Amino acid sequence: MIDQTAALYRDLDRILVTKEEIAEAVRRLGRRITEDYAGKAPVLLGILKGAIVFYSDLMRAIDLPVTSEFMAVSSYGSATKTSGVVQIRKDLDHDITGKDLIIVEDIVDSGVTLNYLKGHLANRGAASIRIATLLDKPGRRRVDLKTDYVCFEIPDAFVVGYGLDYDEKYRNLPDIGVLAPRVYQKD
Ligand code: IMP
Ligand code: MG
Repeated sequence: MIDQTAALYRDLDRILVTKEEIAEAVRRLGRRITEDYAGKAPVLLGILKGAIVFYSDLMRAIDLPVTSEFMAVSSYGSATKTSGVVQIRKDLDHDITGKDLIIVEDIVDSGVTLNYLKGHLANRGAASIRIATLLDKPGRRRVDLKTDYVCFEIPDAFVVGYGLDYDEKYRNLPDIGVLAPRVYQKD
């Protein structure tokens, strides 16, 4: 392993989900979506930036003529707790009227971000909206949000890797790990 990546791994308390477990779960989810949307061409809506790694693996595991959209929203800053205020920083490129949307997200925590986004997209005429998330922290939910596809339910801990960041770092780690609290508590 290259030295810089080894240094990032030293900031983790433990590995929570290995890259092999992720790969298997993403393959399984791709097969499920392929069956559930047979005969359709869903729009995969990736939420930047955290979902990018999951998104690129998932789209190749779906055997359907999917199209791609991305949105950027923020509710976080560099802290490890949600602010509760959601802001759209990058909007859709195309009209979604009559489309079957699958929102692809890295993690659902309080649910505030996706709850807001789902309401916003429903007002724009999508035929259906489902949520596919890599990780779900159900213990932290603050709003009543249904997640349709979940790869892993995880406990209440701040995690990084496979697209998830702390202060824009750790996104390139192939595994998902619990960030050692000393890393963010010193800020
Ligand atoms: P929510 O609105 O509280 O559900 O927050 C969702 C967003 O917060 C996710 O899309 C992530 O960007 C971020 N987030 C929540 N928990 C974590 C975590 O454990 N690690 C990294 N980012 C997280
Ligand atoms: Mg996110």
